Amino acid sequence: SGKTHTMLGGAPDVPEQVGVIPRICADIFAEKAALESKPNARSTYAVEVGYVEVYNENVNDLLADRKADSRGRPVEGDVNLTVVTAPGGGVLLQNQTLRVCDSPEAMLRFIESGNASRHVAATKMNARSSRSHAIFQIVLRETRTTVMANGSSVTGPGVSSRLNLVDLAGSERTADSGVQGKHFDQAVNINQSLTVLGRCIDALAKLSRNPKSVERPPYRESKL
Ligand SMILES: Nc1ncnc2c1ncn2[C@@H]1O[C@H](COP(=O)(O)OP(=O)(O)OP(=O)(O)O)[C@@H](O)[C@H]1O
Ligand SMILES: [Mg+2]
Repeated sequence: SGKTHTMLGGAPDVPEQVGVIPRICADIFAEKAALESKPNARSTYAVEVGYVEVYNENVNDLLADRKADSRGRPVEGDVNLTVVTAPGGGVLLQNQTLRVCDSPEAMLRFIESGNASRHVAATKMNARSSRSHAIFQIVLRETRTTVMANGSSVTGPGVSSRLNLVDLAGSERTADSGVQGKHFDQAVNINQSLTVLGRCIDALAKLSRNPKSVERPPYRESKL
């Protein structure tokens, strides 16, 4: 155990307890500042974040604006996203909310607000057990200025990249965690998706050892 603790960290003011995600957020802004302040720098970088969870084989947007009811209170409930094939290959989440961040602190505030919507539950093993797989996405977009032979310059999009940081939901024997009812269904979905993830990794390992292997990773058997 300790997956969520490793990704998000413990007490934020204790340096050795800072998690993987806050460390990456700080590093990205440090590197961005270093690159942009180089003499003759020709690129600037925009940072955006997305945060989704895979819960009972649905993908939920954790950063979506909550619709308000007639009294202006936010409507409870999940905001489902559709997984579609991206034009250039890979997958895309249709209408996913991405938020622009101007500091590592802003990135962490979006994680906090997303965590408030994430599914957790008390089990015998963990008082705040993750019942969904959470995927924190960092999107970097370069804007590049190219100087032409005649001395004029053109500014346009450069390279874009996306980093997915995943906090998997716990796999446990349902007998040990003492789950029942709705929580039993959650555990079954979690275990099934982790089994598919394991089979994808196995198939990729086999393909890398033997490119002629006919086994294909079962990517489409789980939203994860
Ligand atoms: N290295 C650590 N130091 C101090 N506390 C820890 C450490 N690792 C885990 N914990 C604590 O143990 C508890 C369980 O950890 P955590 O929630 O990270 O487990 P998990 O693997 O995410 O579990 P689940 O699969 O149920 O989501 C939490 O209260 C967490 O703060
Ligand atoms: Mg967890």
